[in-house]
Amino acid sequence: MHPVLIVDDDDALRKVLRLRLARSGFEPFVAAHADDAIQMIESRTCLPHCILLDIRMPDRNGLDLLPEVRRLCPTSPVVMLTASADIETGVEAMRRGAFDYLIKPVVKEQLLATIRKALSYRKIQIENARLEAENREYQENLERKVHERTRELSRAHLQTVAVLAETIEAKDPYTRGHCNRVRQLSTALGRALELGRVELRTLEYGAILHDIGKIGVPEVMLNKNGRLTEQETEVFRAHPVLGESILRPVDFFRDCLPIVRWHHEWYDGRGYPDGLIAEDIPLLVRIVAVADAFDAMTSARPYRSALSLETANAEIRSGCGSQFDPEIGAVFLAREIWKLLDDAESTGSD
Ligand SMILES: [Fe+2]
Repeated sequence: MHPVLIVDDDDALRKVLRLRLARSGFEPFVAAHADDAIQMIESRTCLPHCILLDIRMPDRNGLDLLPEVRRLCPTSPVVMLTASADIETGVEAMRRGAFDYLIKPVVKEQLLATIRKALSYRKIQIENARLEAENREYQENLERKVHERTRELSRAHLQTVAVLAETIEAKDPYTRGHCNRVRQLSTALGRALELGRVELRTLEYGAILHDIGKIGVPEVMLNKNGRLTEQETEVFRAHPVLGESILRPVDFFRDCLPIVRWHHEWYDGRGYPDGLIAEDIPLLVRIVAVADAFDAMTSARPYRSALSLETANAEIRSGCGSQFDPEIGAVFLAREIWKLLDDAESTGSD
């Protein structure tokens, strides 16, 4: 049984409408004043499926009451009751969100037909709202699933990259953990330089992979306790280009290629393989260059022991403008980026 709320200050009309609606199978509720109607709805005494609302009432105009009623019962159509002289007001009410209007004296057939139409409209409204909510929930689930899958894929990619990096380190016990520390130092430096999320991700992967080309450097050379010969130096210096050619076929690593190829370039142009100068070296590469050099200095090598933190910092400071981008070097020192290394990864050389 559909509850219908009648709001009208005319006692006789309220009685007639109530009787007609009750006899026609509805559940009528009546309110003589606007405030009573609001109170009935707010107290949930009546949760109307349809509201008949008089436009002219002594305490409050029905048109003023309309928005409040619509807010309290958004799915309940409101049918305005208007005197014959008020047709324009009835039209205005519909503009403001009323479903329809009835002219007094209300004809019984018209009353019932209008209420039934209003109830059909309400049913469609509720169904639409349900479908919209379902759709919204579906979209949200979908977005969440896509987000989760993307994160899983990223994790899988990162693990693949880490495994690749470990294959290099397996050849050279002196550089164990180097790629991971360069990753941590580079991304900490990148965050200090306020890089965006995508650049940080590229920086992270590039930093892990920067020495992948060492796969082509014979182990005896990597572990040599003494200076490399000229020929050996040439082989060693080929590792950035070799690394780039190893990764080039894999689309996913495309953005990391500059880091792999140019991480031994110097800011003043004296680096290799291409002798790039200053800003011609991409920003992410200049960041990895500082992180890589710092970790190399603070790690033990076959031909020397690890440098102290103070000595390494002094080297970074004096290399600003020659080996390193001076601004990046300055941020590295000022922000004490090495302190952000995981304890487990720390070289302990300070
Ligand atoms: Fe390298």
